[in-house]
This record gives sequence, C-alpha cells and structure tokens, in this order.
Amino acid sequence: MRLEDLSASDDGRLASPSAARNREAIAAVLAQVLPEAGLVLEVGSGTGEHVVHFARVMPHLAWQPSEQDAACLRSISAWVAVEAQANVRQPLVLDVTDAQWPIAGADAIISINMIHIAPWSAAQALLRGASRLLPADGLLCVYGPFRVAGEHTSASNRAFDAQLRAINSEWGVRDLEAVSNEAPALKLDLERTFQMPANNLKGIQIVGPLPAGLQHITIFSGGAHAESKESDAARVLITFLTARPLRRPS
Ligand SMILES: C[S@@+](CC[C@H](N)C(=O)[O-])C[C@H]1O[C@@H](n2cnc3c(N)ncnc32)[C@H](O)[C@@H]1O
Repeated sequence: MRLEDLSASDDGRLASPSAARNREAIAAVLAQVLPEAGLVLEVGSGTGEHVVHFARVMPHLAWQPSEQDAACLRSISAWVAVEAQANVRQPLVLDVTDAQWPIAGADAIISINMIHIAPWSAAQALLRGASRLLPADGLLCVYGPFRVAGEHTSASNRAFDAQLRAINSEWGVRDLEAVSNEAPALKLDLERTFQMPANNLKGIQIVGPLPAGLQHITIFSGGAHAESKESDAARVLITFLTARPLRRPS
C-alpha cells in the first residue's frame, strides 16, 4: 500500500514527490551529524532517490542502500546505474526483522520514513540491528514524524497517524520516548532531535555510550513568551525536556 503516487521511468526508476521535497532538508542535517569518512547504511531506501542525492552532496562518505521490497530494489539499482557515482553501492536485500543482516558493519545507519509505516517490531529490529552493526561511536539517524510526551506535534501529524492506522492497525506515528526507552538496553543512547520543516521532527540520533569523562548533565528551565510566534513548537520542546530525565545506559 503506497501513501503517495510514484511515477515510473522505463528503466525502472521510481520517483517519489515527498523524497524530492524533503531530501535537501534531510541532507542538511545528515551533513552536520555524520562522520567525516566511512560507510553509511540506509535501511528502507524506498525509490533510491535519497541515497543518490546524499552521495552527491556528501561524496566523502560511502553509501549502502537497502530494501525489502522488490520494486524498490529495482528502482534503487536503476538510480544507482543512471547516476553512476563511485561512492554508492548496489542495494542489499534487507528486511530489518531478519535475524541476520547481509552486512557486517557500518559507521552510521540512517532510516527515513520507515518506522511509522511498518509494525512496531520493525522499529525494535532497527534498533537491535544498529546495536549489532555500529561501533561504539556509531550513529543511528531516524527521520520521521514522532509524538512527543504522548502528544502529536501538529494537527497534520495527528491526521496522518489516523490515516496510517486506518490502512494498517500496526502502523502509526511513534512516541519518541518509546523509541528512546528501547535504546539503553541495547547500549544506544538518544542524543539529539532536530526540528524539521513540514511538521516533522527529524527523529532521533542515537550514539553508543559516551565515556564517563565526556558526559555532562544540563539542567533546563524554559517558558514560552506570551506573544511567541512559535508557541506550539516552544510548548512541545518544553514538554519534551521535562517529560523525563534522559538516562545513560548502565
Ligand atoms: C514510506 S517508505 C520510505 C522510503 C524512503 N526511505 C523515503 O523516505 O522516501 C517506507 C519504506 O520502508 C520499507 N520497509 C518497511 N518495512 C521494512 C522492513 N521490515 N525492513 C526494511 N525496510 C522496510 C518499505 O519497503 C518502504 O520502501
């Protein structure tokens, strides 16, 4: 079941309007957080348009797309062939819920718009896989809409969540805290969230445990100005910051 109409080229490339819209905003965040060198595994690459764009604007990194869906795998291969970038590999067949992943390791893992359009077990499997594959300083970046402190961050996200659940009762916008609560047992740690355009929180950036000497604790206090133009965003941020203390894995 597709949530948008994809256009298809004769050579098998699929084109997603949403990927074309959000790829630059996502790339801008990834460029800030990804390592200076190494291999980035993308999980649930969809059409493949994101990975070829990221490879173009971040040529210092090697990119490994992956997918579980046959039409998407054909599309990714076609995009990789047409763009002919030396730093993008052919896609791997990868379903996150498989016990074995067809790759031994990666320096970073990204997953865009996957965990809300799949059962919760896929989100858990993504975290488990990241925990297995990533080095201690590795990074998992998850992009998508999230609820924060039990609340949708916009009316459009609430409507989108209802649409997802009507299509498949196991799908739905995830709680940021539910994802971060899974992380410590896997020796992962929620590090940062980024606010993104179009009512999407970029999601979570999870890194391996920091050495004790590098850890520091920040106490926040906050309030929104009565005339703030972004009062909704301020309320969401304050609610998130006060929802519960971030815990380091023991
Ligand atoms: C909404 S699409 C997003 C595609 C692309 N990342 C984007 O943002 O344009 C969700 C993708 O997740 C993939 N997916 C769903 N469940 C998966 C799983 N268990 N393992 C790997 N990929 C999965 C689907 O095949 C689909 O291509």
